[in-house]
This record gives sequence, structure tokens and C-alpha cells, in this order.
Amino acid sequence: MKEKIEAYKKEIADFTAESLEELENFRIKFLSKKGLIPALFADFRNIPKEEKKEMGQQLNELKQMVQARIADLKSELETKEEQKEAIQDLSLPVDWRDLGARHPVSVVKNEINEIFKRSGFTVAEGPEIEDDFHNFSALNFPPEHPARDMQDTFFVEKDPDIALRTHTSSVQVRVMENNQPPIRIIAPGRVFRNEAISARAHCIFHQVEGLYVDKDVSFADMKQTLMYFAKEMFGENTKIRLRPSYFPFTEPSAEMDVSCNICGGKGCNVCKYTGFLEIMGCGMVDPNVLEACGIDSEIYSGFAFGMGVERIAMLKYQVNDLRLYFENDMRFLKQFDKSLD
Ligand code: DAH
Repeated sequence: MKEKIEAYKKEIADFTAESLEELENFRIKFLSKKGLIPALFADFRNIPKEEKKEMGQQLNELKQMVQARIADLKSELETKEEQKEAIQDLSLPVDWRDLGARHPVSVVKNEINEIFKRSGFTVAEGPEIEDDFHNFSALNFPPEHPARDMQDTFFVEKDPDIALRTHTSSVQVRVMENNQPPIRIIAPGRVFRNEAISARAHCIFHQVEGLYVDKDVSFADMKQTLMYFAKEMFGENTKIRLRPSYFPFTEPSAEMDVSCNICGGKGCNVCKYTGFLEIMGCGMVDPNVLEACGIDSEIYSGFAFGMGVERIAMLKYQVNDLRLYFENDMRFLKQFDKSLD
């Protein structure tokens, strides 16, 4: 029996198969009911008692060896088979998922864009490096306003001041300089502030600015537009609330809250038990701003608004550490791109 086991081991180790059929014949030869291994187990009954322990072990080893060899060859052959198929059919789609996923900030930005496009807004763009006029002066920031301070702004050059834009409101100015009303634009883009990076603050983030200027534009028009946006973005039952606020470029100014989409307005730790979440600043464009951009404030009026894209993404996805949005870890990003579902 010993010799047989040795001979079989060698045969198993040397065996290779070109096809699954060949491999199946090999399996039948060794493992089927009438195969070589069950035959050895049958002989096992007849060997002397003293040899049983050792032979038993050897037999089990042999059986495991042949099973493992068959499994290995089978997976090898199957991979080869798949590759062959793939080469034959060049129209088969490739596995493109590993290429990447749309970033949650892009997903939310695109959604904001789509909602405003449906209400007649077009998309405008402006440069990320701005001069003092477009980022501050034309927007009615007094010369000593704290937002111009070195703490908040990344200056590229001083006197005349050139800086990384601190908000997308600068795009309003560029659009009004170059167009007469009616103007109805949104301006999505990247903005920069000299802030220490933490879970709640980052020196780079994204905003979407909105501007509507025409004859007889009222605060009620703004409210209606923003209510439509809130319902589209956060759901049909969303309520909005406007609280008085201050921005140099709008008068009157307001901050807009939406009813908390987590607790439905009942109060929870996300909305700090107020039932509302702040999502944007807005107001009626200050006549000084219209005039600075060459638009007659006696004839025209308008409203403007600005929101943070990361802020909306945080509320929508309940991911409250801003830094995650900048690490580009695929395990994080993959969760938000619906086209990968
Ligand atoms: N620019 C403001 C900011 O960065 C946001 C903002 C508030 C924009 C009110 C507006 C507005 O157009 O009317 O915080």
C-alpha cells in the first residue's frame, strides 16, 4: 500500500489539465466511488493493526492532496476560460468602477445647479484670484471692514490688493459689469479663507452664489425662489424661515433656515433642538452695489443669495467632519455617487 500511495502522490503532483473535461476524468479516476482512493480505503481494512495509524494518516493526506490539486487546476482553467471569452467578445463592458466616483461636493453642486436651472437661472463663472474691487469694494465693504483683514483673506499682492476670492459674490459684480438686466445667474465655485483646518472649518470650500436683477424684483420673489429650492433639495415638506441679518452687499439682509430634515422640525442634536438648520445668506441687492456695477438702481432692483456646498452636503449626508471631503478616500467618495449603484 505504501508504494501505491507514493506512486499516486507523484502522479497527482505531475498532473496538469488542458481542459475542464480532462480534469473531470482525473477526478473520476481518483475520487469516484470506484476510483483509486476509495479502493485504497477498502484495502485499509486488511492491513495489520500496527500499521493502521501511519497508513491512515498517509491515506488522508493523499486524499486531501488530490482534492487540493483538483481545486487549484479548476480555478486556473476557469480564469483562462474567462480571459478567452473576454478576448473573443470585445464588446463586453470593462469594469470601469475602479476609475473613481463623483465627489459628494460635485454631486450636491450639480443638484443645486439643476434646481436653479429649472427656474430659469444660467451658470456664470469668475476667476479664483480676484482684485479688491470685485471681492470687496464693489460689494459695498467699507475700507475698514474686518473681512478684509489678513486673518480671513489670502492676499497674493498688496497695494493694489489681489487676493484669493473669499466668496463667490465677486462673480455677481463681474456679471453686472458686463450685462444689463434682466440678469438671472448662479455662480458655483471654489473660495478661500485663511482659517485653521478643523472638522467645522477649512481654508478651501465651495459656494453657490445667486443673483436676480430686473424691474420690480421684490423680497417676495426671493422668498418664493428660495422656498422652491429648499423643497426640491430637502423634500416637499420642508419649511423655510428667514431671519434678519447683515451683509454689506444686501439691504435688507436675511439668513435662511430650513426645517431640520433629520427630526422633521421636532428638535434633535443636529439642529441643536431648534428644529431648523441655517443654509444660506440672502437679501435685496444694495443700491450701492448696483450702481458700482453700472446698473441704474432707480430702475432696477434685485435679490442675491449665497450658500456653502459642503454645508449642504453635511446636512444631506450627515457627514459632519469637513476634512473628509478633502481626503479623496475612495471608500468615502463611493458612497455618494448614485451612478455607481
Ligand atoms: N458672500 C456671503 C458669504 O460668503 C454669502 C452671501 C450672503 C451671499 C448674502 C449673498 C448674500 O449673495 O446676499 O458668507
